[in-house]
Formats: sequence, structure tokens, C-alpha cells
Amino acid sequence: MQFDNATDKTLSYKLKTFLLTNRNGLNIEILNYGGIISKILIPDRDGNFKDIVLGFNSPEAYFGEHPYFGALIGRFANRIADGKFVLDNQTYTLVKNNGSNHLHGGTIGFDKVFWDAESFENENESGVVLKYVANDMEEGYPGNLTVCVTYSLTQDNTLKVAYHATTDKKTPINLTQHSYFNLSGDFSSKILDHELTLNADEFLELNENQIPTGKYLEVANSPFDFRTPKPIGKDIDKNNTQLAIGKGYDHCWVLKKDNKLAKIAEVYHPKSGRVLEVLTSEPGVQLYTANFLDNTISAKTGGTYGARSGFCLETQHYPDSPNQTHFPTTLLGPGHTFTSETWFRFSTKNN
Ligand code: GLA
Repeated sequence: MQFDNATDKTLSYKLKTFLLTNRNGLNIEILNYGGIISKILIPDRDGNFKDIVLGFNSPEAYFGEHPYFGALIGRFANRIADGKFVLDNQTYTLVKNNGSNHLHGGTIGFDKVFWDAESFENENESGVVLKYVANDMEEGYPGNLTVCVTYSLTQDNTLKVAYHATTDKKTPINLTQHSYFNLSGDFSSKILDHELTLNADEFLELNENQIPTGKYLEVANSPFDFRTPKPIGKDIDKNNTQLAIGKGYDHCWVLKKDNKLAKIAEVYHPKSGRVLEVLTSEPGVQLYTANFLDNTISAKTGGTYGARSGFCLETQHYPDSPNQTHFPTTLLGPGHTFTSETWFRFSTKNN
């Protein structure tokens, strides 16, 4: 990682870390830079604690290049085709930072800015409130957008992520959390043995640029069927056009659309007994199996991060929604409030 010392010093001076803890000894570290979750320390079924998120040991290391480890993503998570969209007859042009696509909010998305941060503590939870104001036309998006994200760790081992946003001009918005999990806590091992359950009957078909074609595909009889628990690795290398496009799973599954918080996924790591449940109010979830990690980044526990050393469950609206009017809308207008919630609940179970 390379960055000049002067910049480094200024950035380091601003950097703050927050530690959320609870009575069961869970430790979650949050940075005011990118709203990054840099550590989640949880026990296995025998009470041995390990950090289960990919990233770096030193908070400063997140200033360098990395694939959105643990970060908050915005103003628009995921891809927008050709880096443009039309809103009220005006064309907005965004940076193309992923081939011909715009990805994860642009060059300096919400993952690369400092957020105002304030911690809080009460008998039920330990948390931090992050606030960021994105300027009108920042990264090409219209409107001054005020975003608040509250992370709170409860006594029942749930990390709650609550999003809240308002704008002074109509704008698309799609926010997510980009943590890479490996419930073994050993980042030299792949996540292929983790058993995933995903409560979704359909997923979005992608074209060769990883943009939704607009078609909803049934998961039934396909490698994308996780409606009953299945090891992530079971079908990942099957001969399948959609898997070939993503080099593995890098797709958006279609969830119920009633905006109410509901459990959508569970991941179980049989060896350690660690369990992650995901609840969300969002209509979609991108399962990404770290297909593009290529052993160029040093891992926290030694060695390097390789393909499939982690998985992300990025709760969100659908990719390219600003260009696909039949998808649930991602537009937020003045006078309205965007709210969304995702919970990560940690536990263990026996085989
Ligand atoms: C998301 C995308 C992936 C990849 C990662 C970051 O999960 O869908 O294709 O860009 O972010 O590397």
C-alpha cells in the first residue's frame, strides 16, 4: 500500500475507532473512516473468540486500496449501467470505475470519507451514530444528501445497522454494508464449507457486464437455490452461465417487498458452530463470494486474502434501479425520509 506521508498524517489525525461491547464479551470495532467495521470478535461453540471479518489489523491500512472491506457503501451501492441515468429529463453522468459501469458510489464513495461519529451506551446496547452530508453533485449525484447510520450491539449478540437519509433534491439512493465474513476466523481457509440458507425464490439475471437484464430467474433447480441449507461451495463451480459471469456468486437475490424487517439468511459454519443470521427491510441481497480477491492483500491472520476467503451479504435495492423502472424505486425526494434496517445476529449451535 502506498500513500504519501503528508496525506497519511492528516488522515491518521482524523481517524477514530469505536469499540462496541456487550456482556457476552463480543467486540465490534468501527472506524469513522468509511463507517468501516474493522473487527467482529465472537465465540465459537466452545467459547473461543475469533475475529470473523476480513480487513486489516491497523485502522490506517484502510486508507489504501482495498475491495470495500467492512465499509458502508453509497450514495448508490452496486452497479449503474454505463455510469448514467436520467431523472426528470436530465441525464446525470457518473464515473465508470468498473469497466463500463459505475460501482459503489464512485471514486470517493461513502466508503472513503470521514463520517461525524458519536458513541452511545445504555444497558441494552453499545453503539455509534455516524453522519455524513454528501454535497449536491458529489460523484455526479443530485442533491445535498444527509445520511445517518447507527451501529448498535445488543446484549443478545445482534449488530443492528439502521440507515436514515434526507435530501434537498430528488436523488437515487442505495445503501449497504460491505463486510466480508469468514466464520472460521481463519482467513487462509475458504468459506465453501459454510452452510447458507437464503429465503428467496428468485434472483436477478445478469448480462456479461454484471448489470441486471431486468429478468427475474427462478432459483429452483439451479445453483442459486439456497432455500434449504447448502454449503456455499456445493454448486459454485457448476457449469452455469450466470456463475461464469460472476466468477462465482455475485448476484442479487429477490426478497419479499413489504419493507418490514425479516430474517432472510442464515450462515452456519459446522466446524466452529458459529452462526450468522441476517435480517433486513431491504428488497434484495447481493451474495458475493469474494471472487475477485487474488492474494495481493495481506490477511489479518497471516498469508493473503484469496478468492472465496470471505462472503458478503449486502442487503440493498436492486443494481441499476435508476435505469430499470420496473424495479422497486430507489428515488428519494425532498420532504421524505429514507429508512432501512439490517441486523447481523451472532450465535452458535451444535452439529
Ligand atoms: C460487490 C460487487 C462485486 C465486487 C465487490 C467489491 O460485491 O458486486 O462485484 O465489485 O463489491 O470488490
